[in-house]
Amino acid sequence: MKIAVLGTGMVGQALAGRLAELGHEVSVGTRDVTATMARTEPDGMGNPPYPSWAQSHPQVRLATFADAAAGAELVVNATNGAASIAVLTAAGREHLAGKVLLDIANPLDFSAGFPPTLFVKDTDSLGEQIQREFPQLRAVKALNTMNAHLMVNPAQLAGGEHTVFVSGNDADAKKTVIGLLESFGHTDVIDLGDIATARGSEMVLPIWVRLTGTLNTPMFNFKIVR
Ligand SMILES: NC(=O)c1ccc[n+]([C@@H]2O[C@H](COP(=O)([O-])OP(=O)(O)OC[C@H]3O[C@@H](n4cnc5c(N)ncnc54)[C@H](OP(=O)(O)O)[C@@H]3O)[C@@H](O)[C@H]2O)c1
Repeated sequence: MKIAVLGTGMVGQALAGRLAELGHEVSVGTRDVTATMARTEPDGMGNPPYPSWAQSHPQVRLATFADAAAGAELVVNATNGAASIAVLTAAGREHLAGKVLLDIANPLDFSAGFPPTLFVKDTDSLGEQIQREFPQLRAVKALNTMNAHLMVNPAQLAGGEHTVFVSGNDADAKKTVIGLLESFGHTDVIDLGDIATARGSEMVLPIWVRLTGTLNTPMFNFKIVR
């Protein structure tokens, strides 16, 4: 499949790398290709700059958000949650219409420092905001409740026996996303329901953030025992 991964951070890199490894034709989207390829400093989390990653993934093309989305059959939103609507707008409504969007972004607000709060919650969610703003997109929220490495390689923990949630209005779009999740190695996929159920998976973040601090590692996930 031709896939656009919007986002050059650790989630974008993890998704793009794994999708390419699985044989998909992947483009990564960014604001400014030249500026992104000129980065020399690690990001705020200490991850190496995008060009270091790109060097070991020559099959993955870097393009503007619009160029990446234009040729894609499926789009991944791996951008900062506060910028996601602006990024999708830059990607171009005409390039998004009818496409499946795997939305991984979280509505984190770091303006008051750490731990972050959620800039939308309880009565709305980022997934719903995106679906409302782009009604022709078929948005599916998934993978936002775990670390980027586990998203694409769940077998690194407990043989992959941990849970990933899926929310979205379009049954076929969810089927496509679940197929991708299974190709990554996920075995416990829980379809929560329509896109409004993303309120639940996004509101997992406050406990996720505190667990990272308490366990001193982001390499953990939730397992729903039933
Ligand atoms: N890190 C994790 O393990 C993890 C786990 C679960 C969910 N998430 C969620 O996944 C998303 C991506 O996380 P991340 O850590 O990979 O990276 P991030 O730093 O949250 O986002 C990086 C991307 O956002 C874009 N961006 C940032 N500010 C922008 C602005 N003002 N206008 C337009 N674009 C902007 C950047 O564009 P450029 O390429 O142009 O710089 C870049 O592509 C986030 O929503 C995060 O909450 C992350």
